[in-house]
Amino acid sequence: MAKLIDGKCISADIKEELKLKVAELKKQGITGALAVIQVGDDPASSVYVRNKKRACEYIGIDSLSYELPKETTQEELLELIERLNQDGQVKGILVQLPVPAHIDENTVIKAISPKKDVDGFHPQSVGALTIGQKGFVSCTPAGIIQLLKRSEIEIEGKSCVIVGRSNIVGKPMALLMLRENATVTITHSKTKNLKEVCKRADILIVAIGKKEFIDASYVKEGAVVIDVGIHRDENNKLSGDVKFDEVEPLCTAITPVPGGVGPMTIAMLMNNCVQAMTD
Ligand code: GUN
Repeated sequence: MAKLIDGKCISADIKEELKLKVAELKKQGITGALAVIQVGDDPASSVYVRNKKRACEYIGIDSLSYELPKETTQEELLELIERLNQDGQVKGILVQLPVPAHIDENTVIKAISPKKDVDGFHPQSVGALTIGQKGFVSCTPAGIIQLLKRSEIEIEGKSCVIVGRSNIVGKPMALLMLRENATVTITHSKTKNLKEVCKRADILIVAIGKKEFIDASYVKEGAVVIDVGIHRDENNKLSGDVKFDEVEPLCTAITPVPGGVGPMTIAMLMNNCVQAMTD
C-alpha cells in the first residue's frame, strides 16, 4: 500500500503558518493587499477567484476584487494593472487566466510588476528561477516541492520524470526539481518511448491534462507519483491524469485526486503574497 500524500492536510498546515506570520507582520505595521482581477464570468474561473479571496481572508490579507465585463478592452485592463502597480498598499496582482480571446495573455502577464507577480508568470520571475535567483515561483510546482519535502520524500539524486511542458507547471517544475538536485527529464506529446522513459522515474510528475492517461505500465515499482491533473465526469466525480486504482499498489507514495496537488496551489499563492509583503 502506498503512502497517500495528503495535500489537504499539508496545505492547511501552510495556511496556518502563514496566518501566524501575517498576524506577526501586522503587529509590526506591515500590511498589504492582493488585487484579484477577473475578466468575464467563466464559471470555473469564478470558483478559483472566490477560493483565492477566501484564502486571503483566512490568513488575514486584504483582497481587492476587480470583476470586469468580458468586453473590457486590453487597454482598459492594462490601465488598471498600471494603477495597481503604482499603488503602494497593493503587494500582489493576479489576473485570473484565461482572459477573453481579444486580450493577449502574454502582454497582460508582462504588464504586472515583477515585484507584485504572485503567480510567478512574468518572464523576469521565470528567468530568476532559471538562474537560481530570488523571485516568485509558479504556485502549483512550488506546492509539489512542499508536498514532497513535508512528506519526507528525498529528491536529491533521484530520477524525476515530468510528463507535460506547460509554462505554468511542467517547465517550472523541472527547474525546481533541478534546484533540489534531482536528475530531470521533461517529456511531452512528441516524446518517443514515453512508457520506457516514465518507467525510469523514481519520482513521476504528471501534468498532461488527459484523464487517467498514466496506467500501471508507465510506473516503476516503488516510484513516487504526483498527479497534477483534474477532470470532472458527468456525475461530478473527480479524477486525475493517473489511473489511481491501478497505479497506487505499485507506488511508495502517491497524491490522490482530489486532495493532493489541488489544495497546494492556493496555499503557495498565499505564501507568495506574504513574500510580496515582506520583500
Ligand atoms: N488559471 C488557471 N490556473 C491559474 C493560476 O494559477 N493563476 C492564474 N492567474 N490563472 C490561472
